[in-house]
Amino acid sequence: MLPIPLPYDPFRAEFRADPYPHYRALRDEAPVHFAPEANVWCVSRYDDVQAVLRRDDVFSSRAMFTMLMNNGQNGMPRLTLRVLRFIALLFVRTRLNPFTFATERILIAEDGERHKGMREIVNRGFTPRRIASWEKRAYEIVAACLAGFEQRERFELVEELAIPLPVTIIAEMLGIEPERRADFKRWSDAIISNATGPGRATPYSADFGAALIGLIRYVKRVARERRRSPAEDVISAIVAEQDGEAGLSDREVVQFVALLLVAGNETTTNLIGNAVKALLRHPDVLARVAGDPALVPRVVEETLRWDAPIQLVFRLTKQATEVAGQRIPDGAIVAALIGSANRDERRFPDPDRFDLDRDSQGHIAFGFGRHFCLGASLARLEARVALEALVPRLARVRLDAEPELVDSFLVRGPRRLELVARSA
Ligand code: HEM
Repeated sequence: MLPIPLPYDPFRAEFRADPYPHYRALRDEAPVHFAPEANVWCVSRYDDVQAVLRRDDVFSSRAMFTMLMNNGQNGMPRLTLRVLRFIALLFVRTRLNPFTFATERILIAEDGERHKGMREIVNRGFTPRRIASWEKRAYEIVAACLAGFEQRERFELVEELAIPLPVTIIAEMLGIEPERRADFKRWSDAIISNATGPGRATPYSADFGAALIGLIRYVKRVARERRRSPAEDVISAIVAEQDGEAGLSDREVVQFVALLLVAGNETTTNLIGNAVKALLRHPDVLARVAGDPALVPRVVEETLRWDAPIQLVFRLTKQATEVAGQRIPDGAIVAALIGSANRDERRFPDPDRFDLDRDSQGHIAFGFGRHFCLGASLARLEARVALEALVPRLARVRLDAEPELVDSFLVRGPRRLELVARSA
């Protein structure tokens, strides 16, 4: 671990194994900390993070795009030779003009009215009734994943349950073939690596290009089919809106579906992984939940607070402003450290304790304000169903080794979680 306190930099891998002591140092000593190499202002206290997310008139979500485009400008990555080659290939293979990226709407990166109009459209695919109707299917998928668990000496939780559950559900919700699961995961991994992981060192690589082209071509084809013959799925609900006033363009449909595939998978996978890891590290809590399964939703909420699957989000200042008495200039990138806010002792007493008796409500693992996670109730449902099935089985297993984490500055969770029977 690096010496505490500081200098903190959200992109540096050294902070990832255990970011929490560093966050604490930031909150105590530099609640608004400028990381010069990253060129990012890090906001770490709960009240300040919430204020940044609430004040969308000052803090624009455009930064989500800029940062995930690898520090590009105006919605475009820096135009190096590799990027130009990449853009040309994308255009030839998908017939989508990458130069319109900056003008088309991407839900997560829009502000104000543009965001509102788009959110209203996509909300229709995510009504509480629609989400609740997936509960039965979630139980079936989990039961299939755990078949034979008792007889196994080893079970790799991430690959065998935490990935297939959200991927299968989102695929079925969208009305796309779950058999393409391996492709979705490959595409999603490549996008996350390019934006937030090891791929940042050599962005827009041939591998990333192949993944993006595969995803876009596939989604374009499905969207076209659903426009011709609508079905009872989310893509049909969205393409049905294309002809209306606030209608989405073909490109926007493709981008939204791609966002759902990536945002909806990786995050829930990590929530399930983080929850199981937390329970196995806290045998007293595990025993209590095993004796009272009604506590499972509390495990889900406390995991979201204690070990947030998305550690930070970005914003771009639209004017010079002040946070916690610190001036932040116009046009600055701000990292709102969700993972830190959720551990702020000013908001959650004894915050490093994994504690089912606390009131975890108010955590901001799903964000806050206008961009509050569209899939929060789906993620909660999936995690609850998975844990209800897992908890009674966890007493007979232990963790094989300290789990390796996903290599990303944004996403937090185990890459693999090998459960070993205690008798083995
Ligand atoms: C544990 C699981 C999840 C976590 C921790 C999580 C976290 C987040 C966070 C922090 C944001 C806010 C981003 C911002 O303010 O810039 C967000 C937005 C979003 N999430 Fe999730 N998410 C999860 C699951 C899902 C699922 C299952 C889906 C879809 C099926 C989804 C789709 C989205 C979308 C579309 C947005 C953008 C909403 C908007 O900009 O209006 N998420 N999520």
